[in-house]
Amino acid sequence: MREEIKRISDEEIARQHAFARQVRFHPDRPQTYYIVTFGCQMNAHDSEVLAGMLEEMGLTQAAEKTQADLVLHNTCCIRDNAERKALGNVTWLKEIKKERPEMLIGVCGCMIQQADMAEKILKRYPFIDLAFGTGNLYRLPEYLLEAIENRDRVIRVDQEASTLAEGLPVRRESSIKAYINIMYGCNNFCSYCIVPYVRGRERSRRSDDIIREAEALVSSGVKEIMLLGQNVNSYGLDSADTLSFAKLLRRVSETGIERIRFMTSHPKDLSDELIDEMAHNPVIAPHLHLPVQSGNDRILHEMNRRYTREHYLRRVQALRSAMPRIGLTTDLIVAFPGETEQEFSDTLSLVEEVRYDSAYTFIYSPRKGTRAAEMPGAIDPDVASERIERLIAAQERITGKILAGMNGEIAQVLVEGASRRRPNQLTGKSGRNINVNFNGDAADIGKIIPVRVTGAGSNTLRGEKEV
Ligand code: SAH
Ligand code: SF4
Ligand code: F3S
Repeated sequence: MREEIKRISDEEIARQHAFARQVRFHPDRPQTYYIVTFGCQMNAHDSEVLAGMLEEMGLTQAAEKTQADLVLHNTCCIRDNAERKALGNVTWLKEIKKERPEMLIGVCGCMIQQADMAEKILKRYPFIDLAFGTGNLYRLPEYLLEAIENRDRVIRVDQEASTLAEGLPVRRESSIKAYINIMYGCNNFCSYCIVPYVRGRERSRRSDDIIREAEALVSSGVKEIMLLGQNVNSYGLDSADTLSFAKLLRRVSETGIERIRFMTSHPKDLSDELIDEMAHNPVIAPHLHLPVQSGNDRILHEMNRRYTREHYLRRVQALRSAMPRIGLTTDLIVAFPGETEQEFSDTLSLVEEVRYDSAYTFIYSPRKGTRAAEMPGAIDPDVASERIERLIAAQERITGKILAGMNGEIAQVLVEGASRRRPNQLTGKSGRNINVNFNGDAADIGKIIPVRVTGAGSNTLRGEKEV
């Protein structure tokens, strides 16, 4: 799949701002919006950009989805259940629209970017008014204007997903933590994964643009930045005017930000330079999400992950010898086509060996158009369920032990607000990215403070503010 990377020109972005003004002053425009977001952090951040654009057009956020004039679904298609959930949500709104026919229903994001999707929507989902893919998200003002003026459906899914647009407005969810996208797309083509097809080729933002965004966030009071990309370790490899990822981290840490995180690292590209930067730069959180997917070499090869168990374990060793207290987390897939009981047990043994703080576990889900979808050896769903349950149980035991072992430690917690379960308590995340609940003072919200760990639940810590 060859696709050119297309940097969207300043003129095109100016044209979109002009459309946004036209919408703003249009008598028939929707007044309120509601965005429903599925999927990963990248989608969450895209939704912040969509919200930014809608507010530029004068719309305000509705308190409830059913009351909004425009409901936009930013979808995910990483697994079949993600896709079904998104479609279920959209279809549910159809009934509300019967009572409020003026409601506009929009769908965008990864699910829409799939081949044949535009056609499917045209035919099977007549109540969808607006649809656009990941590659033309920046054109929302133009599409919305068209929908209002022509009072007709606007279904625009360009085949090109590999676009890079700067200068779009953003409405951020939090004033304490912020996402910055440093690159888009993916070139890895893991055989099970749809992302390269729906997000296009890897393209890095210019480091100057990223630093400028970080500086602006620091001056607005943000304490933690998370740098986002499908494979941040290959940041800059697609263009000459960017830094390596490790150097980019250094530059962002010099903006005055208090804490930096990043996601996701591919084990095959995890450099010594990055490990060294993490070990010596106190602004970078002592946590690494390093998806392994499987502990078996044959499966890793079939997955096209391009590393072996041995290589992965050596990288873990390098990380831990540079940073003995680093927290590691991972993603795991069970029941990849042809996976035998023995091969699955290699994943279990790897989990026991690495001892992750936590893991996201998934049952393999075939995605149309990917290489693995054509592979023989589908695993019986009962076997798949049984495997994932054993894996989850193993990881829960490990998480429990690691958390229990933290008793008495001082965690550096970025306080995010009141705990949802116990509103008289505060909650936040430690450097290792573990939730910590503690008795504290509302004045601490938005600060990174030391908390002494006094106990552990199944995946959270309890503590007392250290004075
Ligand atoms: N770019 C990241 C992951 C993005 S998708 C990386 O490479 O690590 C997040 C996770 O979803 C993946 O790590 C993988 O574990 C899981 N995943 C992706 N495609 C899947 C599929 N078809 N079935 C099951 N899980 C899948
Ligand atoms: Fe998917 Fe692999 Fe790219 Fe991650 S690195 S987004 S799993 S193709
Ligand atoms: Fe889903 Fe797209 Fe993210 S498929 S996981 S929302 S990149």
